[in-house]
Amino acid sequence: MLSLITWILLLLSCNLFKYSASALREATIQYKPLPSLREQARIRDHWLKERISRIPSLLKKHGVDAWLMSQREHAEDTIWWSIKNATDYDAHRRTVLLFHTNESTLEGYPNPIKWVDNTGQVWPELLRVLKDFNPRRIAINIDQNIAFAGGLHVGEYDTTAQALGPEWMQRMVNVPLLGIEYVTTKLETQLEYYRDMQDIVWLMMEEGFSRHTINPGVTTTEDLSWWYREKMLTLNLTTWNHPRISVLTEESFPGWSGTDDIIQEGDLLHIDWGITAMGMNTDTQHMAYVLRDGETDAPDSLKQGLKKANRMQDIHLDIMRAGMTGNEVLENCLAQMKVQGIEGQIYSHPIGDWGHDAGAVIGFTNMPEHVPILGELAILPDTYYSIELYAYHFVPERNETIRFRIEENAHWDKETERWKFVKGRQEKFYLIDKSKDTPLWKVQV
Ligand SMILES: *[C@@H]1O[C@H](CO)[C@@H](O)[C@H](O)[C@H]1NC(C)=O
Ligand SMILES: *[C@@H]1O[C@H](CO)[C@@H](O)[C@H](O)[C@H]1NC(C)=O
Ligand SMILES: *[C@@H]1O[C@H](CO)[C@@H](O)[C@H](O)[C@H]1NC(C)=O
Ligand SMILES: *[C@@H]1O[C@H](CO)[C@@H](O)[C@H](O)[C@H]1NC(C)=O
Repeated sequence: MLSLITWILLLLSCNLFKYSASALREATIQYKPLPSLREQARIRDHWLKERISRIPSLLKKHGVDAWLMSQREHAEDTIWWSIKNATDYDAHRRTVLLFHTNESTLEGYPNPIKWVDNTGQVWPELLRVLKDFNPRRIAINIDQNIAFAGGLHVGEYDTTAQALGPEWMQRMVNVPLLGIEYVTTKLETQLEYYRDMQDIVWLMMEEGFSRHTINPGVTTTEDLSWWYREKMLTLNLTTWNHPRISVLTEESFPGWSGTDDIIQEGDLLHIDWGITAMGMNTDTQHMAYVLRDGETDAPDSLKQGLKKANRMQDIHLDIMRAGMTGNEVLENCLAQMKVQGIEGQIYSHPIGDWGHDAGAVIGFTNMPEHVPILGELAILPDTYYSIELYAYHFVPERNETIRFRIEENAHWDKETERWKFVKGRQEKFYLIDKSKDTPLWKVQV
């Protein structure tokens, strides 16, 4: 945070050295650094410990006595990435994990019991433990549709079946909600860091959608995408989602590779992208407008389009509740949009450990009204959702109906029992003004 004196000095230097405005502006963008890598690992392992400590009660809730995972290095179970320690990467050799509900520490078994093996020794030991605990229902990750419950590789399944024999294999069950609930449930202490990540994302959009990076008539959407990639490196971030930048037209949807246009005055720009840090991911879509000569703001018709999309966000958050299925939320939203005379589409998804996290989805771009399987799941509390949608709006100046596409990340708010945007939402376009350098603006960090 800049002190008052620093601000006065900055303002003075602005007047004294008119031509250093650009450098000055850069100096005012204060990205809050994330903790050091070592501290991040400490925090993440603390979260992990809390998450893993909930597994026995999660097993009981879902009516199973144990949860078995077996995986080879480079062929990890999907769940591995949500149970590994911060300083671990791929699983070693064959890594077998057995979570259980037995809280007796008589034998000193940890939870999970873990084997790292390349000699076959794991199997007699696993059999001995199973005989000891005698779990009746053992969950394994063999679901055919849900990635978070289907991460057991088929060769690994065969090996397990051969080693354990039919008697034990009869006790194996598929319980998809177990993996889903484990992966998608958030801890309260994660939110503080998720907020910091959202601040960084918004600042990057403020910087990226400015004269600092865009020269209309010269800069391409691809140039800008790669600016974001490089900028993330300097901020010690990675991504799960290459920044996709489009010039919005009637055709530019869903825009999964951007549009590769030269950015021109009068363009409506769009970004869809996320960052990865501290084991969490963001997913955001915002829009920017490139001012024409003499313009000081975006045309009213475009502002109306954004407003319409904002109204859809209100409808979405008002309707969405834990316990409803994704499809129920979708149907109710579409009905309410009809009442309000809004046309558009919704395709929201859980977010967290993964950009597209475990749990109920609310529409897909190609399934606007009903989603089999993933849409039939119930929405879980204590989760983050990426509220992703567009409103159609006719823009008379262009004689075009454009999809106004926005996306914001929301967290479950315990008090109100509804989802709230972590940082807020876009209600104004970023403006790229060729006629002058971007003025000094103050950024909150
Ligand atoms: C990125 O990491 C380097 C090395 O630890 C550090 O000096 C720098 O301040 C970090 N930058 C940000 C914006 O976090
Ligand atoms: C994480 O580290 C702890 C402490 O070293 C260890 O007991 C545990 O087995 C590790 N977890 C996994 C999944 O490897
Ligand atoms: C828990 O495991 C111990 C062995 O460590 C066993 O003696 C005991 O019967 C088990 N308890 C239950 C409820 O299965
Ligand atoms: C607007 O577009 C429609 C078709 O998209 C076309 O039929 C119509 O002539 C256009 N109007 C003008 C004024 O260009």
